[in-house]
Amino acid sequence: MTKRVVSTLAAGLLAASFLTACSTDSTGGGDGRLVMGFAQVGAESGWRTANTKSVQDAAKSAGVTLKFSDAQQKQENQIKAIRSFIQQRVDVIAFSPVVESGWDTVLKEAKNAKIPVVLTDRAIDSKDTSLYRTFLGSDFVEEGKKAGEWLVGEYKGKNEPVNIVELQGTTGSAPANDRRSGFADVIKGDPKFKVVASQTGDFTRAKGKEVMQAFLKSQPDIDVLYAHNDDMALGAIQAIEEAGKKPGTDIKVISVDGIKDAFQAMADGKINVLVECNPLLGDQLMELAKKVAKGETVPTRVKVTEGVFTQDQAAAALPSRSY
Ligand code: AHR
Repeated sequence: MTKRVVSTLAAGLLAASFLTACSTDSTGGGDGRLVMGFAQVGAESGWRTANTKSVQDAAKSAGVTLKFSDAQQKQENQIKAIRSFIQQRVDVIAFSPVVESGWDTVLKEAKNAKIPVVLTDRAIDSKDTSLYRTFLGSDFVEEGKKAGEWLVGEYKGKNEPVNIVELQGTTGSAPANDRRSGFADVIKGDPKFKVVASQTGDFTRAKGKEVMQAFLKSQPDIDVLYAHNDDMALGAIQAIEEAGKKPGTDIKVISVDGIKDAFQAMADGKINVLVECNPLLGDQLMELAKKVAKGETVPTRVKVTEGVFTQDQAAAALPSRSY
C-alpha cells in the first residue's frame, strides 16, 4: 500500500469516528428517504436547544433521515462533520455556521460532490454564492436595529448621557456582527448614547454573568445593558442582583431571542424589552431541502417574521411561548 493510500484511509476512518462520537443518526439511505446531514453550532443557549428540537421533530414528520452533528461551538468540528457527510454521500447538507468566514474550501468540496448545501440560521461571508442554494434565517441586522429603536424611544426627550454596556455573541458569528452593527447604526444619530464597554459572552449564561461582573467593576455608571441573546442577559441579571442593583430599573436590560425564561424575567420586571428571534425553522428547512434535492429552484434568501415585546406584554404572552 502506498503512503498516500494509507493516509487517505486514515483520514476517512478519522472522519467516520468523529461523526460517530458527535452525532445521532437515524439509519438512512437505501430506503428512498431523503438523507440530510445537519451540522449544528452546539448547545450554547435556550434558543439553540429549541432550534435543534425543531429540526429533529420536523425531520421525523417529513420522513427525512437526519444525520445530526453537534460542533460544540467549534468551526473545525463543523468542517469535519461536513466532510464526513460528503463521504457518506448524503442528499443535502444543512448547517448553521459557527462563524461567518472560512467556509469556501469545504463548501467547494460539497459542490464538487454535487451535494446541495442549505444555510440555516446564520449566514457566511463568502463572495461565492454558488456554494449554497439558499439561506433560511432571521435578519440579525434588523434585530439590532429594533433593539436600538426601542432605546431611542425610551430616552426620547431626555438629554443626560446614557451609558450602555454590550454583551456580544460569539466573536465572528453573523448574529454578533449584525446585532452589533444594526444597533450601532440606530444609536449613532444621538451623541448622548455611548457604548462604554463591549465584550463577548459567547452566547452563554455563564459567560454573560462573568463578563457583566467585570463590567460592573470597571464601569461605575451603567444605565443600559444590551445583550445579544437571552442566555447572556439572564446570566448578567444574576451579576447585577449580586452587585445589589435592580435589573430592569437601575440598569435597563435589552435582549434578543424571546425564550420562555426571558419572558418570565420580563414579567418579573428584570428585562425591559425582548427582540424576538425565532428558532423554529425545522419545517421550512425540510421543505427547502426536499426542493433543492430535486433540483427545484428555491429563493436564495428566506427570512423569518419576528416581533418586539415590551414589559406590558410579557405576562399575556408568556403562556403561548413555545420555546
Ligand atoms: O444564531 C442565533 C443565535 O445563536 C441566538 O440568538 C443565540 O441565542 C444562539 O446561540
